Amino acid sequence: MQHNIPAHGGKLIDRIAKGQERASLLEKIPSMKRLILNRREIADLEMIATGAFSPLEGYVNSKDYESILHRMHLVNGLPWTIPITLSINKEHKDKLKEGENLALYSIDGDCLGVLFLEEIYPYDKKREALQVYKTDDEKHPGVAALYQQGDYYLAGKVLLINRVKHQDFLKYRLDPKETRILFSAKGWQRIVAFQTRNPVHRAHEYIQKCAMEIVDGLLLHPLVGETKSDDIPASTRMKCYEVLLENYYPSDRVVLSVMPANMRYAGPKEAIMHSIIRKNYGCTHFIVGRDHAGVGNYYGTFDAHYIFNEFDPKTLAITPLFFDYTFFCKKCGGMASTKTCPHTKEDHVFLSGTKVREMLSKGQTPPPEFTRYEVAKILMENT
Ligand code: ADX
Repeated sequence: MQHNIPAHGGKLIDRIAKGQERASLLEKIPSMKRLILNRREIADLEMIATGAFSPLEGYVNSKDYESILHRMHLVNGLPWTIPITLSINKEHKDKLKEGENLALYSIDGDCLGVLFLEEIYPYDKKREALQVYKTDDEKHPGVAALYQQGDYYLAGKVLLINRVKHQDFLKYRLDPKETRILFSAKGWQRIVAFQTRNPVHRAHEYIQKCAMEIVDGLLLHPLVGETKSDDIPASTRMKCYEVLLENYYPSDRVVLSVMPANMRYAGPKEAIMHSIIRKNYGCTHFIVGRDHAGVGNYYGTFDAHYIFNEFDPKTLAITPLFFDYTFFCKKCGGMASTKTCPHTKEDHVFLSGTKVREMLSKGQTPPPEFTRYEVAKILMENT
């Protein structure tokens, strides 16, 4: 049977310029004003153009912006929790006019695409921080990034002219269109996606495999855009995923691919975004464990579960699979969660990220109950 999961809003967006349209834009670009995008904005541009952010066709306008902040939905009624924006400072803004076309460039001088500028609007950073991140604390990495932005947003549809020049993970970079074709070819109907910004430790493996018991396949979909400086770099993580899949997963039931977006650390709101994005990649189920996309103590351990109650499952149209806190229990002799294990904390192997980093920097191997030996070895070699 054909894999046929509608994208968010019903249609997978394709904003990659082709043929005559691309040729005529290329001719006009030299006379357009230039905007240099930062890494997050480039990642967002790629996500929009490939349809990973369907139904968005560009950076959001002020009406959608307000609707996202206050109602967690786009004006058209579709769930959406984090505004996808392009900012500019006042000095540059004064040189632009609504209605003109702008050429989008990377800092390296690569021409990426065109923004059909529909609107320029001011916004309140503190208000956005409180609405999206539930805090205006500058120590929160998402809030810190927001505070560094320009004071105005530019809105309008975009067209990608040239694909972003990536140097890494090339064979793992699949657009939503491509993952959908792959799932069809495999005959998968029910696909669970796993978002991660960490190496896959035993707890992650356990929840993935619990989910794999009830679906046709797993999309292991690590985020490889910017993460905070103390997160393990994507290059090291990819080696961990490869070795783990090779040794512990059935190769015909897993697809490893990367997601270009940045981490925003918006906890529950990002969990909703992560699930919508995976629907666009063709998945039917999405794993949400403890403190999904969280950082520090800004969010409750299961806030990313509760937020799903605020959405109509029919418009979200991807099934979240919620997992409680999971760990290795010495008495159970295996992985378990607070839902399945009757023993106490003393019997559980738990290591915080800080503790793991500390062990690795001292050359100590994290225990096999926490992480597979093959993964620990890569982490130690790369610390
Ligand atoms: S995240 O920022 O991408 O959420 P991470 O890569 O650590 O961070 O987590 C990936 C997924 O695994 C998330 O859904 C998270 O909630 C879940 N998860 C991580 N550790 C555990 C755990 N010990 N128990 C249950 N779920 C977990």
